[in-house]
This record gives sequence, structure tokens and C-alpha cells, in this order.
Amino acid sequence: MTSKLLSPFKLREVELPNRIVVSPMQMYMAKENGECTDWHLVHLGKFAVGNFGTVFTEVLCVEARGRSTYSDAGIWSDEHIPMLKKIANFIRSNGSVPAVQIGHCGPKSSRQRPYDGLQPLSSKDANKGEPPWEIVSCSAEPAAPGYAAPHALTESEVGEVVLAFGQAARRCNLAGFEVLDVHAAHGYLIHSFLSPISNNRHDLYGGNKTNRMRFALEIAEALRRNWPDEKPILFRLSCIDRFEGGLEIGDTIELSRELKKRGVDAIDCSSGGIKGPNSLFSLAEPPTPGYQVPLAAAIRDGAEMPTMAVGMIMTPAHAEEIISDGSADLIALGREALFNPHWGLHAAKLLNEGQTFDDWPPNMGWWLEVRQRMLSSTDPKDWRIGPAAANAPKRAQP
Ligand SMILES: Cc1cc2nc3c(=O)[nH]c(=O)nc-3n(C[C@H](O)[C@H](O)[C@H](O)COP(=O)(O)O)c2cc1C
Repeated sequence: MTSKLLSPFKLREVELPNRIVVSPMQMYMAKENGECTDWHLVHLGKFAVGNFGTVFTEVLCVEARGRSTYSDAGIWSDEHIPMLKKIANFIRSNGSVPAVQIGHCGPKSSRQRPYDGLQPLSSKDANKGEPPWEIVSCSAEPAAPGYAAPHALTESEVGEVVLAFGQAARRCNLAGFEVLDVHAAHGYLIHSFLSPISNNRHDLYGGNKTNRMRFALEIAEALRRNWPDEKPILFRLSCIDRFEGGLEIGDTIELSRELKKRGVDAIDCSSGGIKGPNSLFSLAEPPTPGYQVPLAAAIRDGAEMPTMAVGMIMTPAHAEEIISDGSADLIALGREALFNPHWGLHAAKLLNEGQTFDDWPPNMGWWLEVRQRMLSSTDPKDWRIGPAAANAPKRAQP
């Protein structure tokens, strides 16, 4: 059987070497000015070594006030470019495609890190050197109980944020990224405009569906003006809100079609997050493996565009099944990638006939092959290190 998960996939002129993707994940390790560091280089670099065909950065904030915490990474200044360039180069030189997510946390800005409580910053945090800042959103409603009421952006301020997204895309291109993903999910700024739950406006950007979609579509147009034609753009959408009166899959199919007309190439299919500190607050029950895959399948069918599935996808066999049955074109792993940064290498070994370490970088795979022979042969000539071992025939593993 030829693995579909391991097969390449082309978006515009960019060829992804396989369908395995590292999902964007905020790591709360950036400098206070939003700059990434060597920590990010090592963190993201190890996924490239681990055979993830596409490696996404965490969400890079297009404005400083759009950071969730003081440790979020940014792309609001040209100063951010050099370190990002180093990261993109390393990922590329190890055979993966460097990819970037940009966004604005909107009503979920100015918060504590998740492991500190994910509460809005308060005077207590100010005493520790992290004062709260004024946050912005679609409407003046707090994103979660106890959260600060944001300033509702005026129409002209909305236009400024659209420009900030365009400038962010320009910088991402200069840094050498090849795929761009826009965070329009999880109750962040763009989602707050899209969802009827959080959009209480009565101007050009609110009221009916066309108006609620306007901000996202203007952003897509701004990105296409600042991002090369040969490079793809994805949008991460909360395909359903999971609350009565919220976004339904039909709304997202319609939005996806409009995004496609404006040069968006694929949809990154997530869900939830419009009420509560994060998307898990939208779930009544614990999520099961692949719980968002049906959303990716529905968008792929309904909007006739490629999709990326994400959410509790853990085994190579499951990922293979999702690609093979046509539910999605790409598989993004979040926590499973944190758990096992070599997941892509293990998937290649499992799914390739022969079960060898041929797909591993030789400086690792050669040693593991020798170890494997030690485990399966008592004859020293099979595994003693030296020319004889190097030339020993590769054998099928038990
Ligand atoms: C530590 C962490 C940080 C995350 N940061 C982001 C982010 O920057 N942008 C985003 O769109 N989703 C973010 N997510 C959501 C993941 O990309 C992913 O959609 C989610 O974890 C579900 O996939 P999983 O079950 O494979 O972890 C984050 C998740 C985790 C665990």
C-alpha cells in the first residue's frame, strides 16, 4: 500500500513533502517586544527534523495590543524579521516547509499565560510588572465572564487593523515563510466579527451575514496584495460555534467560498471558543479522537477546497485513514507533536512497507537500524559497527 499521508501535496507553487503538519501553538516564550528567540528555533526546528512536512509557527500577533500575554510572539515590526528568517531557513534546510500563522487575539488579549490561570491581567499582575492594557474587539462585550470589556473598533480603526494584517504578511514573506495561515477562530478578533453571538454592531461590519464576513474578507484581500501569488494562504476558522444562535457549518461553507474567491487556498478547520477563555469551554463532553474531522470533510465537500483537519489526531493509522477517505488533505497535530516531535519519522517507519529507518536522517536512522539488528540477531557480524555492519543487508523487522 502506498501511504497517502506520506504523499506530497501542492498548494499554488509550494509543494508540501507530506500531509503531516505541526499546528500553530503559542509557547509563551517570546521576548516582551514580541521577538522570537533561539528557543523557538530549537522548538520548531526539531519538528522539521521529525519529518513534519509543514511546520507552523505559533500565532504571530499583527499588533502589540493583540497579544494574549506579554510572552506572545509578534510580527508588528520589521525588527521581528531576522529571527523569524533564521527559523524559516532552518526548517527549509531540513526538508520541511516553513509556515506561519498570524492573528490578533482581540477580546482575549491582555491575559495571564494558561498555566498562570488565563485570567485577564489585573493590578496584581501590574505589581509583578505586567499591567493590563486596553483591548479591542468587534463589540464591547467581554469574551468570558470576568474578562475586561473591550473597546469596540470604529470603522476606521477596523481599516487600520486590516492594514496591519497586510503589513504582517509582507514581513512573513521577507522572513522566508512559504505558507500563511490566518487565525480567524477561537473567539479571537476575526472570529468575534464573524459570529452572531459576539457581533452586536449595526454598521458596515455587523447586522447581517455579509457585514459580519466583511472584516475577514477585507483581510484576505489585504493579504493577497502583500503576499506572493505563488504562495498559499489558509484561514483557520471555528467552523461551528457549538452554541445556539452561533455559527453553523453552512455559514462557514459560505464564508469559505467567499475567501476562495479572494485567493484563499485552504481552510484549517477548528471549532468553538466564542464564549469562555478557550475553545474547550464550547464542548459539553471531552473531545474524542478526530472530533473536528467531520467539519473538515463538510467544508472540503461544500466549498470544494482543500482542508486541514486538526484536533485529537494521534496515531499515524488514524491520520492515514482521514486522508485516504477524502475527509481532509492535511493533518495538523498539536499536543501530539509536543508529546513526540519525531512523530513524522515514526509515521514513515510504520506506514512504509519494510519498516526500516530509511526515511530517518542517516545520522540517526543508521544507528537505530544497527540497534534494531542487535535486538533481532545474535550474530555479531549483523550488528558490529564497521564496514561489515554498514554493508549488511537490511532485513524486514519482526
Ligand atoms: C499549547 C497550545 C498552544 C496553542 N496555540 C495556538 C495558536 O497559536 N494558534 C491556533 O490557531 N491554535 C492554537 N492552539 C490550538 C492547536 O493548534 C490545535 O488546534 C489544538 O490543540 C487541537 O489539536 P491537538 O488535539 O492535536 O492538540 C494551541 C494549542 C495548544 C495545546
